[in-house]
Amino acid sequence: MQSLFQSLQELLVLTGDDSRYLDLKNSARIESAAEALAKSAHSVAAMTEKSPDADPSIGIFGTILQDEARRGLEAFQSGHREYARGVFKNLASTCVACHSRSPAGLKLQWNFSSGFAQGLSLLQQAELLAAGRSFDSALTALEKVIADGDLAKKRPSEWNRALRFALAISVRVERNPSRSLALLEKALSTGGIPQFSKLDIQDWTRALQTWKREKDSKKTEPSSESELHREALRLLKLAKAAQRYPMDRAGDVFYLRATSLLHQQLQVAPTGTRSGDAFMELGIAYEVLRDFGLWNLGDIYFEACIHRSPHTQTAETCYRFLEESVIAGYTGSAGTILPESVQKRLGSLRQLSSAKETGKTPR
Ligand code: HEC
Repeated sequence: MQSLFQSLQELLVLTGDDSRYLDLKNSARIESAAEALAKSAHSVAAMTEKSPDADPSIGIFGTILQDEARRGLEAFQSGHREYARGVFKNLASTCVACHSRSPAGLKLQWNFSSGFAQGLSLLQQAELLAAGRSFDSALTALEKVIADGDLAKKRPSEWNRALRFALAISVRVERNPSRSLALLEKALSTGGIPQFSKLDIQDWTRALQTWKREKDSKKTEPSSESELHREALRLLKLAKAAQRYPMDRAGDVFYLRATSLLHQQLQVAPTGTRSGDAFMELGIAYEVLRDFGLWNLGDIYFEACIHRSPHTQTAETCYRFLEESVIAGYTGSAGTILPESVQKRLGSLRQLSSAKETGKTPR
């Protein structure tokens, strides 16, 4: 993992700035960093039950990282440098998506004074810090980005990304409503932020205040598979109740909290009786959270759900969500064109999900 961090850092520093990235003298360094990253990503993908963190999502995220690193490397080697650059810049988000699933795991403090992230923007530095599990320093950097009114005015989507990123970390890893509230307060007091962000912040603030009250009054945190699952279901209900329309951001805080608990549930009981349900619920939550930079994971979890609980009602529901989302993904102005390979994959997943065909009872 340390070597993964070293190669990611090298790659981000080299891709972060036009003159460095386009300088042909750097090509060999870029290529070798990407190669090293793809190679260590392979060992992450191979990390399984032996790891202290047994959430089966490890395999899912590990494979994404490996595939993405390879995709970037191949694009770079075949001369598609701009495309490769986009892929490289996005790699840190896979590390963060996996590391920030829940509060479990190491928290590190990277020392930035050595100047190792020179030339990176503050937001990129924050991404690198979080990719290296230094969440506290990442949040400190993000707080600075969020207070930057000039950025909010000139590059509102970048500002907004920083805000969501900070919210995701403070809710899922820190599980600290007070810190999240302070963060939002800071964001709201920054001049020139987009109107829609103001409205999002108001909704999130309400949800965080509810959480803070709950935390103050509750003595014990859920810890067993069934307790964690029950609490996640409660939060998903609150999330839906808060949403006025399907992609309404008002449910975000509840969805983020639910994902954190569901990942913890899978860490506690990777193959437990409720693991198939947890995959389904993660799929639903990640569909809504798709613009949180935590990857577009909905479909991946729906598919994992079908494999985990084949021929059950749960699998049928997962198939239904998956099919709808895949069809929407292939629908454009010319109508829906599903490639044959996708039709085939859907067909076999439909068979695997069908509760009627074998009459099997849920595991
Ligand atoms: C599939 C999930 C996953 C992905 C993807 C992932 N990691 Fe990790 N990482 C882990 C786990 C699990 C641990 C160790 C468990 C713990 O936290 O105690 C860890 C620990 C670490 C650590 C600290 C411990 C050590 O061994 O040094 C660093 C640094 C790290 N990862 C960097 C990275 C970087 C950089 C990336 C992306 C290029 C990345 N990781 C991608 C799961 C992942």
